[in-house]
Amino acid sequence: MYKIVRKEILNPSVKLMEIEAPYVAKKAEPGQFIIFRIDEAGERIPLTIADFNREKGTVTIIFQEVGKTTKRLGQLAEGDEILDFVGPLGVASHFEGLKKVAVIGGGLGTAIAYPQAKKLHSLGIEVDTIIGFRTQDLIILEDEMAVVSDRLIVATDDGSNGHQGFVTDMLDKCIADGADYDLVIAIGPIIMMKMVSQLTKKYGIKTIVSMNPVMVDGTGMCGGCRITVDGEIKFACVDGPDFDGHLVDFDEAMRRQMMYQFEESEQKETHHC
Ligand code: FES
Repeated sequence: MYKIVRKEILNPSVKLMEIEAPYVAKKAEPGQFIIFRIDEAGERIPLTIADFNREKGTVTIIFQEVGKTTKRLGQLAEGDEILDFVGPLGVASHFEGLKKVAVIGGGLGTAIAYPQAKKLHSLGIEVDTIIGFRTQDLIILEDEMAVVSDRLIVATDDGSNGHQGFVTDMLDKCIADGADYDLVIAIGPIIMMKMVSQLTKKYGIKTIVSMNPVMVDGTGMCGGCRITVDGEIKFACVDGPDFDGHLVDFDEAMRRQMMYQFEESEQKETHHC
């Protein structure tokens, strides 16, 4: 069993949980995910690892309550236990030879961008972080990001935090002002990753996106997370979730996501982790 040692409410629909899972914590790297199951009758749901602490043996997950299982998880309290917490799964991100990186997080994608920024920062790489949310009350991880970023820009679509704009506009401005990034990492809604990739392609800056399509089994068997990259079929759960943003077929990914959202119900939860 895996104990919930900390629970925090980050915004009205997003919660953080720190789970005691020493084996996962020992091996976890940014970009990887876990699959949890609350009890025997529960579904298996994948979630990206938002943080880990090897000394304490804990792994942090951040999730939005979008269906039956995540709502049930959100109702659990500190001290409660869940049955399964399997991982780390997926391919870890690699950052060798980089000097300056822009990390872009959109909405809940910020929870996945955070471990990336943290790792880059720990390697002595200069990190500019740009995170965007629809409104001020949806902002998450601002303080945490500030600690691991050389520069942090927090923008809202409606300007309610005093900084109005889209992450692509902010990134464009940083590049125009002379920031020479070796790499841009963009994590968030597919449309955002598409726009960022289009922008960086124009500037010739390598871009990694984290594709978190609907995952069902997380083992490459169900095909639920299929995407097309450079004309080839890939499975986000085993080949990713990180892919070259200049090669991903975002339009297809958006069509598939819409198809699944249509099928999504309170009964059966499919998840965009
Ligand atoms: Fe089933 Fe990736 S989640 S193949």
